[in-house]
Amino acid sequence: MELAHRPAWRWLVVPIAAIMAAAFSLASPAQAQSTLRQAAADDFLIGVAVSNSWLNNSTFANLAATHFSSVTAENEMKWETTEPSENNFNFGPGDQIVNFANQNGQHVYGHTLVWHSQAPGWVQGLNGTAMDAAMQNHITRLMQRWAGETERWDVVNEAVSDNNGQLRNSFLLNAMGPQYIENALTYARAADPSATLCLNDYSIDGINTKSNAYFTMVQDFIQRGVPIDCMGFQAHLILGQVPGNMLQNLQRFASLGLEIWVTELDIRIPRPVSQQNLVQQANDYRQVVQICQTANCAGLTVWGLHDGQSWVDNTFPEFDSPLLWDDNFQPKPAFDAVLDQLGGGGPGPTPPAAPTNLTANAGSNSVSLSWNGSSGATQYQVHRATGAFGGSFSQIGTTSGTSFTDNNVSPNTTYRYQVTASNANGTSDPSNTVTVTTNDDGGPTTPPPGDADCSVTYVANDWGGHPGFTADITIRNTGNTTINGWTLVFNYTAGQTIEPPGWNGTVSQSGSTVTAVNASWNGTIPPNGTANIGFNGTAASVGNNPPPTSFTLNGTSCDVG
Ligand code: XIL
Repeated sequence: MELAHRPAWRWLVVPIAAIMAAAFSLASPAQAQSTLRQAAADDFLIGVAVSNSWLNNSTFANLAATHFSSVTAENEMKWETTEPSENNFNFGPGDQIVNFANQNGQHVYGHTLVWHSQAPGWVQGLNGTAMDAAMQNHITRLMQRWAGETERWDVVNEAVSDNNGQLRNSFLLNAMGPQYIENALTYARAADPSATLCLNDYSIDGINTKSNAYFTMVQDFIQRGVPIDCMGFQAHLILGQVPGNMLQNLQRFASLGLEIWVTELDIRIPRPVSQQNLVQQANDYRQVVQICQTANCAGLTVWGLHDGQSWVDNTFPEFDSPLLWDDNFQPKPAFDAVLDQLGGGGPGPTPPAAPTNLTANAGSNSVSLSWNGSSGATQYQVHRATGAFGGSFSQIGTTSGTSFTDNNVSPNTTYRYQVTASNANGTSDPSNTVTVTTNDDGGPTTPPPGDADCSVTYVANDWGGHPGFTADITIRNTGNTTINGWTLVFNYTAGQTIEPPGWNGTVSQSGSTVTAVNASWNGTIPPNGTANIGFNGTAASVGNNPPPTSFTLNGTSCDVG
């Protein structure tokens, strides 16, 4: 097992990713776990293959930065790009990928140092010795260029044949012999001792002849001390064909002490693509993520961000739609499934929290409410029920602030109030309930002894050609208890003045309010009995002498007429 050679700082890598994800969550709690990167933080690095041409697209770049904690250069670190002629290095394209990753706090998965494909012609024509030297130089220069940046490398890519478990028949094998794989690993370890060294291949995701060949190879390497740290499973899958024994396969490599990565995941769908296919694809993606979680993968990389970028269009023209976002950068069902399987997503947009600390202050004709607002709320709804218990709440008003006055209350009455908060995402639970009783306004609801129902008839005889008038008022006891002493109060609305004290009682005036008190002989009014009082007065002008509209006898309102 080769992990012991790594300097201690290497083990800081995952905690830093976790801290970054935590910082992300703190910055916007409402968005917690809504990105793959946040959701995967406690599982593994979640990677994406990117290319410089797509990084120039801001939608692409934003999604790649937001959702992924690792990037792999789709082509920019391959031999034909990085060393197009011998010992003439072109690091620019790879640097751009590394810069993007650094800007976004992402890891870089180096891909790939030695591969039979996308290798320049000059190297393919070398003899064994020269090719081995060129290979060492290539590995050394690339790993040193990006030392500390690409902490993980596919040292040799696709070294095993598809059908017989033998090494792939390639210019590499032909020139250098089977030894080239372990030579490459040895040169890589020497070039950057801190890097994690991987072998990587496709169609080795399940247990089969090809993956068995790797299993035998890496066991042999480990036994002989050939540096190997990691196994990369490309997982270029076809819809509905996640290998049934993929978990077992990954686990057997992990049991050797190797780091496990799913390095190039995509799941291609035979054309034409149906909605049902997309749902199946989501299930397949979920399954791979789950396998990776169970097998303790160190990372899972998807081979491209959106369908518009994928190599599948060119390579497998009869297939389509292999990635998590569609051609228009809309997340597909597969995205939701991956996010969900990583523990993210949640119930979707959430309404505001319930308002708290609702308090009420009662007058006799109003109740004023205030409460602590809820973050993100755009409106509050005030609900009221009558009584200390029972009855149902109904909404009586809305406000965008955190206070409300209910002017539609009766004196000396108990009410219960609640407030809810809402925004575009919905309505909160109710706040605490506050119970409040309005004040007595001086109008007793039960009459005191001696008080009674009453009616009042008011007649004014104008003197004609003069604003003077004579008022005659009759009070009738319409209740069923005797009135013992009475005070009648009414208001003039047109500036009339009276001449105290009048007759059959005493009248006085204060502003527009007239108070009439019984005389000694007419203070007692039995049920259905009457008392009479009269006085002279003067209107503000001739003909402008409207009668009072309401009368109060001993504090209780009387019928008029
Ligand atoms: C592919 C790229 O996605 C294409 O853009 C390029 O034209 C060919 O290579 N296995 C690998 C990757 O290891 O490097 C390949 O990438 C896909 C298969």
